[in-house]
Amino acid sequence: MSQPTFETAVRTQGVNMFFGEGESRVTALKQADFDARRGELIMLVGPSGCGKTTLLSVIAGTLTPQAGTVEVFGQRLDGLGQEDLTTFRRKNLGFVFQSFNLIPTLTSLENVTVPLLIQGVSQREAEERARIVFEKVGLKGREDSRPNSLSGGQQQRVAIARALVHEPPLLICDEPTSALDKDTGAQIMEMIRTLSRAPNRCVVVVTHDQRIFRFADRIAEMEDGRIRRVVDDPRQLDTTHL
Ligand SMILES: Nc1ncnc2c1ncn2[C@@H]1O[C@H](COP(=O)(O)OP(=O)(O)OP(=O)(O)O)[C@@H](O)[C@H]1O
Ligand SMILES: [Mg+2]
Repeated sequence: MSQPTFETAVRTQGVNMFFGEGESRVTALKQADFDARRGELIMLVGPSGCGKTTLLSVIAGTLTPQAGTVEVFGQRLDGLGQEDLTTFRRKNLGFVFQSFNLIPTLTSLENVTVPLLIQGVSQREAEERARIVFEKVGLKGREDSRPNSLSGGQQQRVAIARALVHEPPLLICDEPTSALDKDTGAQIMEMIRTLSRAPNRCVVVVTHDQRIFRFADRIAEMEDGRIRRVVDDPRQLDTTHL
């Protein structure tokens, strides 16, 4: 097993994660070893049910595995209590969910200000910063719309703006382009890739969308609860099941 280097941003070793008990037990991760480097955008691909979202949740500290170690920017997450995990997430993590998870009673812009307000940023500054990111994701003019009046692609862009607004070191995206057309998906990925280009940054993207593979520095292929291999050229992937 290799030792962590200064470049390591995320590292899981021997992670086991199961749900349920007895006959209904489902093992989602089996000895999953994963690492992501500082300054890179790494994609996680594999068939439906192979454990991608579960691995993201473990890295995000929203699921605690039954075995194994999880380290994010030098901080061990396994063993941390709920309160410390919450603090860690607020400071270090942006998460774009497969289902957008927007707050329906807030306007789109208000949704984007939430992570800043939680961090104690003033209302005025939060709005200013949210407006800048809002424009970047191509939503200018829809600030006051509630999420349910936006298209799926627009909601996804609000979710991305919310994940980016506090400039988290670790950005985790679960199918960020699945609801977007080709051009919008490429624009969003371009933006996400630019963000990953900093030594104190790391972006992990789960996707089935082969059109965006070209934005990855490396691609980790998952199979049956573990990382099967990691490649830096998408042509080396077995894409028949994606
Ligand atoms: N909360 C849960 N309770 C029970 N089983 C779960 C739970 N979450 C995930 N699983 C199971 O764990 C396995 C891995 O699920 P996971 O959501 O990580 O897959 P995935 O690779 O993200 O799939 P997809 O590409 O369809 O999103 C599946 O068999 C799933 O049914
Ligand atoms: Mg999933």
